[in-house]
Amino acid sequence: MNPIDTELKLHVEEVEQILKEMFPSIEETYYKRVVDAMAYSYFSGGKRLRPMMMLESFRLFGGKNIEVVKPFMAALEMIHTYSLIHDDLPAMDNDDYRRGRLTNHKQFDEATAILAGDGLLNYAFQLVSFSMVSEKDPMMLKRKADSFYALADYAGVFGMIGGQMADIEAEKKELVTKDELLFIHENKTAALIKAALIIGAILAGADEDEVIKMVRIGENVGLAFQIQDDILDCIGDEALLGKPIGSDARNQKTTYVTLEGLEKAKKDQEQLSRDAIELFDTLPGQNDFLKNLILSLVERKY
Ligand code: IPE
Ligand code: IPE
Ligand code: MG
Ligand code: MG
Ligand code: MG
Repeated sequence: MNPIDTELKLHVEEVEQILKEMFPSIEETYYKRVVDAMAYSYFSGGKRLRPMMMLESFRLFGGKNIEVVKPFMAALEMIHTYSLIHDDLPAMDNDDYRRGRLTNHKQFDEATAILAGDGLLNYAFQLVSFSMVSEKDPMMLKRKADSFYALADYAGVFGMIGGQMADIEAEKKELVTKDELLFIHENKTAALIKAALIIGAILAGADEDEVIKMVRIGENVGLAFQIQDDILDCIGDEALLGKPIGSDARNQKTTYVTLEGLEKAKKDQEQLSRDAIELFDTLPGQNDFLKNLILSLVERKY
């Protein structure tokens, strides 16, 4: 096993533990089905990259008390998970497998999957607002308020949701320009990665210039990440990927691969990751794990 894999396993375990701690536990009741459906997708594996990046960005800027970042980590993974549940619905990408198991609407039904997505989205904001309500330190309260705003902004119509809408709109078009595709990638995917990196930084007390650098790093990493996702949709191994390949072609999507070709897609993906690493090196703090994690995404198979 490569050293990053061993280290990564420990970090995934750490994040999994936090995600579990933040999930609501409920008694048997009339609406238990929706919470079961939320748990089905939230606890179904996944790389846990966004909460992991948030925690590591927090550490990069000297954050010590991880209690402050835990609700935000879980909230972001809940929002990401809801986006996947809805993305897989018949009305959107219409996929049957996700994270190595049936998609939420296949395991439950469409109504339950829609509600499970809504439930995760809402609980995300319940978690972070509760952490603000119970915050006594005014300085930390301000950092949490800024983070709350960033989360809502990047996850919303000016971020992930906007990107998903543009992605669906683009399916109907004969010609999708590079500009339009970059807009889609930056929003549907890079937005939540940016949120991860900047919320970690804000909660740890990073200054404005540092936060701006984290936004730029997130843009590069997020774009590289979606290019690799597009590549894997063409040449990935379904068993490793845990989701079907060929989904983009079936939905007649313009992707980075259809627009630029496989070779250029790979090259651009690598370049974007290198640009992100160069930006890291201009920051005062260091976090080698985070840098190695980002570099390892270049070669990811799932
Ligand atoms: C999948 O994200 C959706 C995209 C934005 C490309 P991930 O590849 O991070 O999915 P999980 O969380 O590991 O399942
Ligand atoms: C979706 O992009 C990004 C989201 C916001 C969910 P894709 O549709 O390419 O993601 P996958 O390939 O289904 O994971
Ligand atoms: Mg999609
Ligand atoms: Mg999809
Ligand atoms: Mg995809």
